[in-house]
Amino acid sequence: MGCRIVLLGMPGAGKGTQADQLAEALGIPHIASGDLFREHLHQGTELGRLAQGYMDRGELVPDEVTIGMIAERIARPDCAEGFILDGFPRTVAQAEALGRLLSQNGTRLDMVALIRVREEVALARLAGRWTCRNCGAVYHTLFNPPRQAGVCDACGGELYQRSDETEEAHRRRLKVYQEQTAPLVEYYRRIGLLVEIDGEQSIDDVQADLRATVETACG
Ligand code: AP5
Ligand code: ZN
Repeated sequence: MGCRIVLLGMPGAGKGTQADQLAEALGIPHIASGDLFREHLHQGTELGRLAQGYMDRGELVPDEVTIGMIAERIARPDCAEGFILDGFPRTVAQAEALGRLLSQNGTRLDMVALIRVREEVALARLAGRWTCRNCGAVYHTLFNPPRQAGVCDACGGELYQRSDETEEAHRRRLKVYQEQTAPLVEYYRRIGLLVEIDGEQSIDDVQADLRATVETACG
């Protein structure tokens, strides 16, 4: 049993926001590749230093590095009953590597949910985003403000803006998404795993749709 889920969607679609809530509801870990890179960066590891340049430019970190980091993460015991992947896979090579890793363990993905939004909606969301330095929760100055400005509702941590939150990096990330990640939509549709969610609804309505699809896919 268990539930192994991938969330797909362009930067700003709301993957992180939805994955946080879903992980809590299902009691399985939320694994965000971007968050893992940012933790490495914060800890000053070699991997973090390598990733920083790519991230700040809005480009993808090379596949070998990214796949190795995720392989190590999903092999940990807390993933035995499932996980929610957010931001991985992002290339066909990453998707193929994930499929191989899971089948080596006798498991497979249960569902890939595409959170669909238009580019202009994604850009508006990215422009107002604030992230908790401590727990990674995300807020938005207009759409999802914290109760107290600059302070995380969940843990009291300090809110900051990511170093890739420039207009230029946002546009570059959207372009990279269209070129390198959008092909995964067809890839997962073909193998019958794709479900599509309207990401332009309220955060609660997107979550409700997501939970309904999880119930169908994972029982
Ligand atoms: P990553 O951290 O994964 O960023 P991303 O995919 O670009 O996605 P975001 O985190 O920007 O957006 P999101 O969809 O999670 O939206 P969120 O919930 O925050 O990647 C960063 C970088 O790391 C990459 O550029 C790359 O360099 C590297 N990287 C990561 N993974 C990699 C991989 N696999 N391979 C290679 N490189 C990799 O929401 C956005 C905002 O909108 C928030 O403010 C939120 O409050 C608000 N919001 C959310 N939902 C709603 C709603 N329904 N209505 C109104 N507002 C909403
Ligand atoms: Zn917090």
